[in-house]
Amino acid sequence: MSRTPQINIGLFGLGTVGSQVHEILVKNKELLSRKLGFPLHLKKICEPDSKKIKQFNIPASMAATKPAELLDDPEISIIVELIGDKPVALEIMKHALSLGKHVVTANKAILAHHGPELYKAAAEHEVDILFEAAVAGAIPILRSIREGFVADRIVKVLGIINGTSNYILSGMAHDKKDFATVLAEAQKSGYAEADPTADIEGIDPTHKITILTALAYGQLVPVDKVYREGITQITPHDFAMAERFGFAIKLLGISKMRDNGALEVRVHPTLVPKTHSLAPVDGAFNAVMVEGEKLGSSLFYGMGAGGPPTATAVVADIVEIARNLANQVPGVPPLGYKIEEIQKAKLVPMDDIESEYYLRFNVQDKPGVLAKISAILGQNNISISSLEQEGLPNGSAVPIVILTHKALEKNVQASIKEIDKLNFMTAKTFLLRIER
Ligand code: HSE
Repeated sequence: MSRTPQINIGLFGLGTVGSQVHEILVKNKELLSRKLGFPLHLKKICEPDSKKIKQFNIPASMAATKPAELLDDPEISIIVELIGDKPVALEIMKHALSLGKHVVTANKAILAHHGPELYKAAAEHEVDILFEAAVAGAIPILRSIREGFVADRIVKVLGIINGTSNYILSGMAHDKKDFATVLAEAQKSGYAEADPTADIEGIDPTHKITILTALAYGQLVPVDKVYREGITQITPHDFAMAERFGFAIKLLGISKMRDNGALEVRVHPTLVPKTHSLAPVDGAFNAVMVEGEKLGSSLFYGMGAGGPPTATAVVADIVEIARNLANQVPGVPPLGYKIEEIQKAKLVPMDDIESEYYLRFNVQDKPGVLAKISAILGQNNISISSLEQEGLPNGSAVPIVILTHKALEKNVQASIKEIDKLNFMTAKTFLLRIER
């Protein structure tokens, strides 16, 4: 006769996601038990803010204020870390793994910076570390890459993996408002944080593309080597031009494997044709496109942020670990590759990437300007595919927008450097890369 396993969980943090994990574990207890075959037991919650303990009706017997109350409890086998990007979160996870406890986290910043040491510690202590909620919230993209696509060689991952910036870009596209106005509205309605830096400067999606890259290819990329641009320089005029040329503007996380195994990993605002699967992804939604040699192209779409959706991913990880514990089987390695097989990525320098470009030159409208710009582009081996200039009175400052055929980044940067020195330039040149 089999015994019903008692699997005890210790939860750190009762914030936006932590409080929802608590709610799911309470409200869906029976549903989860029917799926698992036994109930999950949330034993303790560590939350120093007593207001939150009261707000979420946490019984005194479950409430803790010190990490040791959970970490030193031998009955707790799964630690759920949801306290955010604070040094103590890393300490808690390292400590839990060293004690042979399994870890579930949503902490993309810590995983992007310290993932390798955590994966190594988990392997050494023969425990699992799972982090589905760290990338694209409720979308099961990590599990899909790790397990669903295990048979294939992934060659490309493209993602809209920051809901805040997608909300802002969608607002700018549809309402024809400028960046600052839409950001202020997003902050007012709760779609952007009071300090939006991590989202609008592309830091958050850089963390996420680093994690996606590790899973897609079993290769580690130092997060500070990932090329990053945010969305703050895009103007309503860029949206009007993009529309005219048949493109949407999206902040993309891009990770590609070249035939020689080298990786291109970058985050920047990107023009995608209106016909591209990622073009209609609007508002706070996330979407990730995965391309494999055999599977072709697969698109995942859903809620990438918010307490309840993100908490479903956390609980899915808890369930996976609980199943493994009950069946006494080891889990799938966190990146889907045996730890000894994980490699350091060979990163293609940004200078060596090839792309089509959208170039916005801000110039005084006078004779010879276009000739000078196009001559410099030509000398740098850049071929123009389309061109547009607003018809304003002679002598005004106007943007000239040029789309190029495929060109080398270093040639484009060299041209811009030269063009920006010309005396008819009224502002620095702005570029967007194009992804088809
Ligand atoms: N700040 C993130 C976003 C959500 O806007 O997508 C959490 O990853």
